Amino acid sequence: MKTCDLLIRNAWVIDGTGAPGRPADVAVRNARIEAVGTLPDYEGHTCIDAEGKALAPGFIDVHTHDDQVLLSNPLLPNKISQGVTTVITGNCGFSLAPVDIRATEGRAWPMSFGLLGAREGYAFPDFAGYLDALEASPSAVNAGVLVGHSALRYGAMDRLDREATADETARMCEAMEKCMEAGALGLSSGLHYPPAKASATEEVIEIARVVGRHGGIYTTHMRNEADDIDPSIEEALRIGREGDVPVQISHHKLIDARNHGRSVETLERIERAREEQTVAIDVYPYNAGSTVLDPGRCDGRYKVIVTWSTPFPEMAGRTVADIAEEWGVDGVEAGRRLLPAGAIYFMLSEDDVQRILSRPYAMIGSDGLPHDERAHPRLWGTFPRVLGHYCRDLGLFPLEEAVRRMTSLAAESFGLKDRGVIRPGAWADLTLFDPGTVIDRADYQNVDGVSDGILMVVVNGETVWQNGKPTGNRPGRVLRRQGRIGHGLHRQNRRPAGLPAR
Ligand code: ZN
Ligand code: CU
Repeated sequence: MKTCDLLIRNAWVIDGTGAPGRPADVAVRNARIEAVGTLPDYEGHTCIDAEGKALAPGFIDVHTHDDQVLLSNPLLPNKISQGVTTVITGNCGFSLAPVDIRATEGRAWPMSFGLLGAREGYAFPDFAGYLDALEASPSAVNAGVLVGHSALRYGAMDRLDREATADETARMCEAMEKCMEAGALGLSSGLHYPPAKASATEEVIEIARVVGRHGGIYTTHMRNEADDIDPSIEEALRIGREGDVPVQISHHKLIDARNHGRSVETLERIERAREEQTVAIDVYPYNAGSTVLDPGRCDGRYKVIVTWSTPFPEMAGRTVADIAEEWGVDGVEAGRRLLPAGAIYFMLSEDDVQRILSRPYAMIGSDGLPHDERAHPRLWGTFPRVLGHYCRDLGLFPLEEAVRRMTSLAAESFGLKDRGVIRPGAWADLTLFDPGTVIDRADYQNVDGVSDGILMVVVNGETVWQNGKPTGNRPGRVLRRQGRIGHGLHRQNRRPAGLPAR
């Protein structure tokens, strides 16, 4: 008899590679998968009968704003209840580190930095110190960390409403260098947001070059996701080419009714680029977005729900239209009075969401906002919604394909070694779920409904979610960059020398 720590018998193993599911047992020892197959000669300290339910690699949420919540609420029930075992933080140009709030006394604090929680949480002037803190106080999930371009700007510039000077750009590059050495996965930008709006493309390229030299990735909340989506995609691609970095277009979407349907062209554009450079996308499975409240978006074009408001916390959960009527003002004025605040915007089309979701290079990123009073339901529902609603009920793709996008594709794209697959030697991040019943239970009224059908979740060999609640274990690790991200993808995507571009 061989002994292992955890033995899962009678599972329907969906290994994350896209291969068809098959019945197998899985043995886990020392945080890794030791064996997969029919394992009659194994016994486990803990033995689970999976009763034929699906066992997949733990899901990887490639787009999160969990930088601070990993420390302040380390059980992350909203993630593990969905089967998520790894989060990528530091997206949209915002990262908790490196930001030195002591050096910024008396300066305006950008409202969008609030996406990561209270200002007091920004306690890490040194990026390496942030990773050390995560290791000293582990959470339930693994975390790979990006560095926000806006965070770098805040550290290097006295004001953010202009382009950076050569000196300031050099300072940002220096800071980026240190972050990469400490183990950052790469750089994120949020060129749409006020702290980065005024930056020149060349400024981002300079920083991206540092990332490229270290083999990192560039993720971007693009400058514009509405009328100017085309030049915004071109800008992202150019930064990727000139910085020699893989590009991840974050939460790809088309805003405003007049742009609905244009995902046909944007996806074609991205696919043409994929023949020449490494670029992929992520998406959340909802036709409403969410971020800070922008009064300019409260003119009645679409429904807007308030998720939090500092001066009017009691308004969270209500629509701006409703509040405006009560106050006897128009929507834009109501929006202004609610600031600082956050909101959900019903500004996307379901057709675009499904078209984008269907692409084989589309990963799943929740973009959940864990500090919002009444957060967008994507915080609690994203992964079960893809599995239950889009995969099972609508049949957008087979289950193996849904799982592949949530696991091995994400792990390869972000350079997470030995994750995202079920095979001997891989880390034991596992999610046991019922493909027949899995479904999201969070919606715009019941924002923190716990999903159905996620039976057990294991991170690095330790159970973190069982019987519908967290076990209290916190086995999560910091996933520092190992080697060049996307190197294989890079070569595989490049056309052989000498062939003409199509
Ligand atoms: Zn974003
Ligand atoms: Cu985001």
